[in-house]
Amino acid sequence: METLLIDKTHDESRQGEALAPTTSDPLTFTKRFYIESYGCQMNFADSEVVASILNKEGFGATRNLEEADLIFVNTCSIREKAEQTVRKRLTEFKRLKKQNKELLIGVLGCMAERLKAKFLEEERLVDLVVGPDAYRSLPLLVSEATVGQKAVNVLLSREETYADIAPVRLDGNGVSAFVSIMRGCNNMCSFCVVPFTRGRERSRDDQSILNECRELFEQGYREVTLLGQNVDSYYYVPAEADGSASAPVTFALLLEKVARISPLLRVRFSTSHPKDITDEVLYTMQRYDNICKYIHLPLQSGSTRVLQLMNRTYTQEWYKAKVDRIKAILPDCGISADIIAGFCTEQEEDHLDTLAVMDYAKFDFSYMFFYSERPGTLAARRYQDDVPEIVKKRRLQEIVEKQNQLSLQSNQRDLGKIFTVLIEGDSKKNEREWKGRNSQNKVIVFPKSADSALTKGSYVQVRVTECSQATLRGLLVL
Ligand code: 5AD
Ligand code: SF4
Repeated sequence: METLLIDKTHDESRQGEALAPTTSDPLTFTKRFYIESYGCQMNFADSEVVASILNKEGFGATRNLEEADLIFVNTCSIREKAEQTVRKRLTEFKRLKKQNKELLIGVLGCMAERLKAKFLEEERLVDLVVGPDAYRSLPLLVSEATVGQKAVNVLLSREETYADIAPVRLDGNGVSAFVSIMRGCNNMCSFCVVPFTRGRERSRDDQSILNECRELFEQGYREVTLLGQNVDSYYYVPAEADGSASAPVTFALLLEKVARISPLLRVRFSTSHPKDITDEVLYTMQRYDNICKYIHLPLQSGSTRVLQLMNRTYTQEWYKAKVDRIKAILPDCGISADIIAGFCTEQEEDHLDTLAVMDYAKFDFSYMFFYSERPGTLAARRYQDDVPEIVKKRRLQEIVEKQNQLSLQSNQRDLGKIFTVLIEGDSKKNEREWKGRNSQNKVIVFPKSADSALTKGSYVQVRVTECSQATLRGLLVL
């Protein structure tokens, strides 16, 4: 069932992949660390902060488990399945300790807090447990673990944003990079474990964000994705030199500042919350060609009653009005959603509401899940997980089928259109073809031309000539 899902917030192709820079890793490193990441883009971005901290301690990244002195798994707690996968991996890694007694294994990220006692003490699966706000203490924890002490720090912080740490880009394509702009979440959606695993919301200093984006551009990157659990609530009050507060920076303003770095730098962002996304953000998107016309706007459910139980604080009508607003201000904007099937008490009519909103919004794609109860959440404490698994899966299947139709129709509407495409690299299947994305975040594959001046990071015009439900194919417009 899960393989059917189009899952981009949790890009299936990247789950659990070993991460290491593709380019020159200095040979000066005497020790090596191996890191696997699970979950959302935020977790992948965090692994790049961890890499930066470890590099300073003399550890270089490796994709080869055998040469690793340190193994880290950056974990996700969002659904039960993700937790099971991580546990399996940790058990496999523990076996490697038989050959290498010095090897240290650590759990990072969202599972750290909840499972620290279990992993460290009961099952002795790992040597280190480090929560998402405690990465600065990694050097200390590694040295404690080296002498056999229990090394754990899962404290959440109200301030930590790692603003001053320049992430080491792992496994990127050299064209697009993630830039984290805030951490944590204050929303308390009743199904979601994130407020417990990642703590309170805090925004990162706007200047450090701008510096990071500028440096990326200077290194040849052409696209940044600003990341936060709820980017619309980005809010930073810079301090003046004399200590007084200056004008606050909202998300719309931040977006504008990043867009002004260069018209050649594309700007994306994720994730928006339907209750918070403002007209000001939409008009800012309208004013700048290089702010991509694509919004990820999680729906979760189309039923007002279920939305209320989910504590999403909007109704079906509100969501539809937001979609109308996006389409009025940005007529060619792509919209995607997250959808959960089978939340507590969901009836057939609620499910039909979800399908109806999907039709109304005509999502270009969606990330679709069935509800998985997470310990400690509001829903786990208050409501019964009462939709039988077979019903959840059937409803999810219907949602997936609906989305497949909508994606195909959306792609068919693009036939014959010409798009500006940012080249990301060779297509997976054929090195005589390029792969890139249009502003709406759709992947377009097209044959390379004799024009050897084109490289990764070039912008080209491509006319769409063919499509499937998943991809567009086209031809260069010369
Ligand atoms: N069960 C299923 N899906 C969930 N999500 C978050 N928590 C759960 C859960 N307990 C989904 C939401 C969210 C996305 C990142 O993951 O749709 O937007
Ligand atoms: Fe990301 Fe949420 Fe998973 Fe943590 S639990 S890795 S924040 S998706």
